[in-house]
Amino acid sequence: MRIDVVTLFPEMIGQAVRYGVTGRALERGLWRLGLWNPRDFVVDSYRTIDDRPYGGGPGMVMLAEPLAKALATARAAQRAEGCKATRTLYLSPAGTPLVHRRVAQLAAAGDDTAYVLLAGRYEGIDERLLDSEVDEEIAMGDFVVSGGELPALMLIDAIVRQRPGLLDCPHYTRPEEIDGARVPDVLLSGHHAAIRTWRLQQSLGRTWERRPDLLRERALSNEEMELLATYLREHGETEESR
Ligand SMILES: C[S@@+](CC[C@H](N)C(=O)[O-])C[C@H]1O[C@@H](n2cnc3c(N)ncnc32)[C@H](O)[C@@H]1O
Repeated sequence: MRIDVVTLFPEMIGQAVRYGVTGRALERGLWRLGLWNPRDFVVDSYRTIDDRPYGGGPGMVMLAEPLAKALATARAAQRAEGCKATRTLYLSPAGTPLVHRRVAQLAAAGDDTAYVLLAGRYEGIDERLLDSEVDEEIAMGDFVVSGGELPALMLIDAIVRQRPGLLDCPHYTRPEEIDGARVPDVLLSGHHAAIRTWRLQQSLGRTWERRPDLLRERALSNEEMELLATYLREHGETEESR
């Protein structure tokens, strides 16, 4: 699973997820993180990200254009990494209140699933961007906080802690060959999607061989089932042999 966050404060997310369960899961490759600052997609030299609301009133509203560009870039990065399905979730006090059942559904998605979390600031986001780009609005409670970053962190934590683990894949570093034992070609290919697939397959295979109990706790996606079946065939094993 990959989660990207579009936020004016990427460091806030990047730092906080490195603690505890989410940090360990990140290190073990149970999920991947992408961070995108909409200010990087602004064209003017002042890096303007907001403007006054039509009709007057207090506060500022986030501009649609840089957010649309940031979302498109996040989705493109997800696709480049081999993610097949993506869903855009806006953290919003006007969204559907988050409950455990929805967290479990979001967490049960396959490894090739991705989410883009959109964190607002100020008075919120131009409604037209929400109408055209967002699949679902999620509220963290019946209160308003000053930005979507803390709600996004809560959602990430809630999802990631539900994801059962796989054992880690094998790792290699220089040199490319030691006494005839070569680093697998795919890791030298520079092909990120193929590398991700290989690592996932190795994790599934190792977990099947060494900790089959973990696989019993985990609903495998179609991709994971196919990868495991191929791994077992290549290693002369069958799913019944354990
Ligand atoms: C100050 S709030 C904007 C509030 C907006 N004017 C309203 O009343 O709906 C700024 C941002 O914080 C986030 N936010 C605030 N409260 C939230 C909550 N309870 N759940 C999820 N996100 C929230 C949203 O991303 C929102 O765009």
